[in-house]
Amino acid sequence: MRIAVLVSGNGTNLQALMDAQKDGQLSSGEIVLVLSDNKDAFALKRAERNGIRTVIKELSGEMTRKDLDDHILRELEGEKIELVVLAGYMRILGPELVKKYRGRILNIHPALLPAFKGVHGIRDAYECGVKITGVTVHFVDEGLDSGPIILQEPVRIGSGDTLDALEKKIHEVEHRLYPEAVRLFVSGKLKMDGRKVIIQ
Ligand code: GRF
Repeated sequence: MRIAVLVSGNGTNLQALMDAQKDGQLSSGEIVLVLSDNKDAFALKRAERNGIRTVIKELSGEMTRKDLDDHILRELEGEKIELVVLAGYMRILGPELVKKYRGRILNIHPALLPAFKGVHGIRDAYECGVKITGVTVHFVDEGLDSGPIILQEPVRIGSGDTLDALEKKIHEVEHRLYPEAVRLFVSGKLKMDGRKVIIQ
């Protein structure tokens, strides 16, 4: 199964996915494309090191967000991509792209959705004072962090935890949970029942 990973930043989740693939943990999943909306994303270097094709699609000049999505869609279709994995991709995908790939786009969020949506999931949970936060992998729909939930894992916030310590704990869980979700998808083990994702 041909996989594209969309990134904007550091790419530690991309790294975890590439490592899992090397270890044979993604079933028949193969990452064949890494696409970034930021030419300076360190994730691009990680992909190059692993011999994976990289493409940069930045929003520039007169370009609208829809133009950007159209470019991305052309790349995905050109590469015959069957699964799109968002790994720290900092834009919301437009409705056309989501429609074309419905049920075949995954995202990871560093909180227990539907709590603490948005770009600061870890910090927002920490500042709110909740005792338990966590990680969510979900399908992408047209909304913000709102699609059907595939996997979740809780992370306890200890009274002595700094924000840095919490970030570290969250990322450790992410790097385990995301490859597992991709493996389940690639092996055809995820079925939908309305909004519920059934793991077979
Ligand atoms: C992760 O915390 C992920 O949950 C969020 O963005 C971050 C990306 O980190 N969506 P990285 O680029 O994979 O290191």
